[in-house]
Amino acid sequence: MLLLVPALPALAEPTAEVLHWWTSGGEARALKVIADRFTESGGRWIDSPIAGGGGDAARTVAKTRMIGGKPPTIMQWHLGLSLRQLAESGLLGEVDAVARDGKWDEVLPPLLVANAKIGGHYVTIPVDIHGENWLWTNSKVLAAAGVAVPRSWAEFNAAAETLRAAGYIPLALGGQGWQQVIVFSAVALGTGGPDFFRRAFVDLDAKALAGPEMVAVFAELRLIKGMIDPGASNRDWNEATNLVIQGKAAMQLMGDWAKGEFVASGLVPERDFGCDPSPGAGDAPRAAYVVAADSLAVPKLADPAQREGQILMARTAMDPAVQRDFSLAKGSIPARNDVPQDAFDVCAQKAMAIVRESKDLLPAIGSSMGIGAAEAGAITDAVSLFFARDMTPEDGAKALAAAVAGSR
Ligand code: BGC
Repeated sequence: MLLLVPALPALAEPTAEVLHWWTSGGEARALKVIADRFTESGGRWIDSPIAGGGGDAARTVAKTRMIGGKPPTIMQWHLGLSLRQLAESGLLGEVDAVARDGKWDEVLPPLLVANAKIGGHYVTIPVDIHGENWLWTNSKVLAAAGVAVPRSWAEFNAAAETLRAAGYIPLALGGQGWQQVIVFSAVALGTGGPDFFRRAFVDLDAKALAGPEMVAVFAELRLIKGMIDPGASNRDWNEATNLVIQGKAAMQLMGDWAKGEFVASGLVPERDFGCDPSPGAGDAPRAAYVVAADSLAVPKLADPAQREGQILMARTAMDPAVQRDFSLAKGSIPARNDVPQDAFDVCAQKAMAIVRESKDLLPAIGSSMGIGAAEAGAITDAVSLFFARDMTPEDGAKALAAAVAGSR
């Protein structure tokens, strides 16, 4: 007998076009952890990398696409105000059902919940926590020059002189604004202290931005300009890290995604390279820490296959083992607070202890966790200008305060 069965609607294959700026060696290894698990779980992964550390280029493309009605399925985004603005403009969807099942309110630190759950909805999938104020050092180079890891800016300046005299580039830097801001903010934290950092880069207090403490920050920045090599302009951050890996440069001030490059090259922390909080920030576990958190945001969209893709991505990227393996390759620590620590190396253990115990977790300027993208852009422009021109520290602070005032 012939049975007539009505055709079932085909189940949508979970599909995700993933827009991101994780293109360096370590970053690509980390992203592959998520992509492999997503694919093994039946998802179709479409990779959309937009190169450019810090993510300015990627965010511009993503915004244009969202406004034009053609958003990617998933987009790398920092937790912070700029994400909030997207949510409030109605551009983001949600992954609430997965968050409820997975008890995200409990397994994520309160700071991440507060930034990922907007208006009661999880608009993004938190994946990691990075610290920006790390000092990376090549241990062999420091030993050869007879220099200890500097713990204050005075020691840093003295170390740089000795290293230069021994034939090394003291500080590896790329001449891109976001990298210069990372150095600038580490100097501000280490010379002015955490309260000054908050007044300047969270409250945007005009007196802090133009006052004597900021002049001192620019004075140190002027010395730093003398520690970098002429090849710095336009150099990517990972190329700068590579100079330290190869022993051509001694030190780099950069977020802990740099560790992903050291580890990908087979180097071992505290044998081949040092990872220490930037000078003047204090030591783990109580160091002051400039934090940025990466997440995978879910734009609002209607296509069923992509909606399934967002849901599968939420399950995949929040899986504890995926978060562990991702951070091992990336240099971050997991967003979840219940991932066992034993697999992690000494740098990540320091980061975990700091996040647990420091009183001074501060929002990274570029990530817009504390201030908006416009203000962060103004700070970046002022810092770049100082690096590009021959300006006095007084003029640097004046230009900074004026740029911030003009952006508000
Ligand atoms: C992101 C990191 C990334 C770094 C360099 C930062 O903005 O938070 O995940 O590794 O940029 O690309």
